Amino acid sequence: MTKRARAARPRSSRTAKTGSRVPQKEGWHGWDDYADFYDWENARTLGQRDVPFWLRMTAAVDGPVLELGCGTGRVTMPLAHAGVRIVGVDRSAEMLARARRRVRRQRRGVAPTLVRADIRALPLPDASIPMVMAPYGILQSLVNDRDLKATLKDVARVVEPDGIFALELVADLPAWGEYSRKVRMRGQRAPGGSRITLIESVRQDRDRGVTVFDQEFVETLGRTTRRRAFTLTFRTLTVPAMLRRLAAAGFRAEALLGDYDGGPLGLEAEAWIIVARRV
Ligand SMILES: C[S@@+](CC[C@H](N)C(=O)[O-])C[C@H]1O[C@@H](n2cnc3c(N)ncnc32)[C@H](O)[C@@H]1O
Repeated sequence: MTKRARAARPRSSRTAKTGSRVPQKEGWHGWDDYADFYDWENARTLGQRDVPFWLRMTAAVDGPVLELGCGTGRVTMPLAHAGVRIVGVDRSAEMLARARRRVRRQRRGVAPTLVRADIRALPLPDASIPMVMAPYGILQSLVNDRDLKATLKDVARVVEPDGIFALELVADLPAWGEYSRKVRMRGQRAPGGSRITLIESVRQDRDRGVTVFDQEFVETLGRTTRRRAFTLTFRTLTVPAMLRRLAAAGFRAEALLGDYDGGPLGLEAEAWIIVARRV
């Protein structure tokens, strides 16, 4: 078995009530199944609100920008259109397939380089990247300290001396209320004429420090109904905790921001953004 295959095997734990084994999901699990719905759901939530921030951050970078977890290219493509040289890394073949479709339709700017890989082991040379960006909580897909440490170590390896590492943590995860099989969206129109209902359950596992989303998408077109159920797991990491880990990996925080306009980080912050420099 290769190292990666070993890492990919889900660990399991016993439930308190029944003592039966339940597989523990890793942070990269679920994204292949989510891919068909990601852009559709996202257009109804965050949309493109963070894109101008990433455009400003990358505008003056001289050299390639590395995006951790580029997904369907939601952020990658507007940057590429604006002429930013960008390398997007993602582990999900299905998410990347959508990004690649966008690249095929691209008519301006610079075509991004898309690489299927795990961000815990970046397939890039040492000190080759002047800026690394981690939008929209991708580092919260690393659901334990070992995985986060491995990733920060590798980011520190690939970024140039004095290079920038900018990241966003999704601010509302730690306080997300728990619920079971709530209909979050009902019968909403999707491309191709189908209608989608999203049924969602959320659990806070305070022992593991993770928030678990069980999602079921029900898509109806005429008399055909298709159901897709999967689980996404995110680490509920605070800004101070992340700052300590960044410092240990050789980064110095230069700015803490609470929104995409550069506002201060406070209790009501809509986003937790850290801009750090390799020391
Ligand atoms: C929240 S999405 C962010 C996507 C995109 N950057 C955006 O803002 O829309 C997370 C992405 O990270 C990817 N991902 C999660 N864990 C990963 C890992 N260990 N290595 C590489 N990609 C990972 C998933 O496949 C998914 O596409």
